[in-house]
Amino acid sequence: MILFLGLLLFGLMLCGFIFSKTTKEMPKSWFEWKTEFRYQYLGIIGLVHDAKYASRDRVALYKQPDRIAVITGGNRGIGLRIVEKLLACDMTVIMGVRDPSSAETAVGKIVDLSQTKGKLICKQLDVGDMKSVRAFAQSITEKYAKIDLLLNNAGIMFAPFKQTADGFESHFAINYLGHFLLTHLLLPQLRAAGKPGKNARIVNVSSCVNLIGRINYKDINGLKNYYPGTAYSQSKLAQILGTRHLQSLLDAEKAHVQVNVVHPGIVDTDLFEHSATTSIPIFKKFFFKTPERGSRTVVFAAIDPSIEGQGGTYLSNGGRGPFHPDAKKPAKCEQLFQFSCDLLKIKQYGNGEYAL
Ligand SMILES: NC(=O)c1ccc[n+]([C@@H]2O[C@H](COP(=O)([O-])OP(=O)(O)OC[C@H]3O[C@@H](n4cnc5c(N)ncnc54)[C@H](OP(=O)(O)O)[C@@H]3O)[C@@H](O)[C@H]2O)c1
Repeated sequence: MILFLGLLLFGLMLCGFIFSKTTKEMPKSWFEWKTEFRYQYLGIIGLVHDAKYASRDRVALYKQPDRIAVITGGNRGIGLRIVEKLLACDMTVIMGVRDPSSAETAVGKIVDLSQTKGKLICKQLDVGDMKSVRAFAQSITEKYAKIDLLLNNAGIMFAPFKQTADGFESHFAINYLGHFLLTHLLLPQLRAAGKPGKNARIVNVSSCVNLIGRINYKDINGLKNYYPGTAYSQSKLAQILGTRHLQSLLDAEKAHVQVNVVHPGIVDTDLFEHSATTSIPIFKKFFFKTPERGSRTVVFAAIDPSIEGQGGTYLSNGGRGPFHPDAKKPAKCEQLFQFSCDLLKIKQYGNGEYAL
């Protein structure tokens, strides 16, 4: 009997492992096994956290018709539900998406655009392509002197190795570096919008997997030992280090701009397309957050008055969450920030100037 129960437990654990791997293949080296175990551990902790703090995970929407929000992605997943909430606040929402016309159709399916006082503008953006980021930012800065909110939401996860046109690994480029550049280019407009008691806000959508991230300065593109899970956690840690240093710069210049970083929860979206979890859609439906729930803390970080003036914080399920120890060390945050400026040849971060 004990043997039977033991075998049953082992079988269940094995199935759990196989169907929740970050890739559809089996790990091939100790490094890959270790990465998988760390992901599984964080996944369980993340699901428990989402369940435990479900009642705290909410956001009160209120009308703010004179405000302008810029979001990357937003045509599906968590971003679509963020856009829905921003439009419910009557904001003007500028979406940076790869396919503007299908994005407008996607929003139109869940929001009656003739009823909202908000306005939807969809513009072309591939956030992993620095030329496209510059063109997107330019199309905004030409028209708008002020931007109230910037939501850096677009992302990819566990994708096979690919280098972008600029020669950066795709997770690093899309999840982190493109948003780093976009923020730099829109900062003059964000500074102009912020006023005492009403900061302009930047929200970086990161992930709890920042906790197992490591910035590999010697091989930032992971050319020597590429593993998708490692590339994803590196990019998500980078977002947090970047957020923390940017807030210290904004504080030093007394700008009325705050930048926060968010883990939206473990959410049932297409983000998991490369992982083994696609074999167990029912499990995801049952245990993961819906995209609507996943959007709540992101919108909370963007508009909630209770966190006014509390930039540089990492939010999860409507409150503060644990993040990587390196992000508590200003020197580590500054190191990545300077490294990113060097990669993009940005001389003075936040002045909105960029030559390719
Ligand atoms: N889902 C989760 O459990 C979870 C957990 C932690 C953090 N997050 C973070 O939450 C954010 C949103 O993820 P999601 O779950 O909503 O994923 P999703 O459903 O896969 O949506 C990803 C979004 O990013 C856009 N995107 C991807 N690459 C892009 C590019 N090169 N240029 C412009 N847009 C691009 C996609 O647009 P296309 O349609 O054009 O591809 C889509 O709008 C991501 O930053 C992710 O890392 C999610």
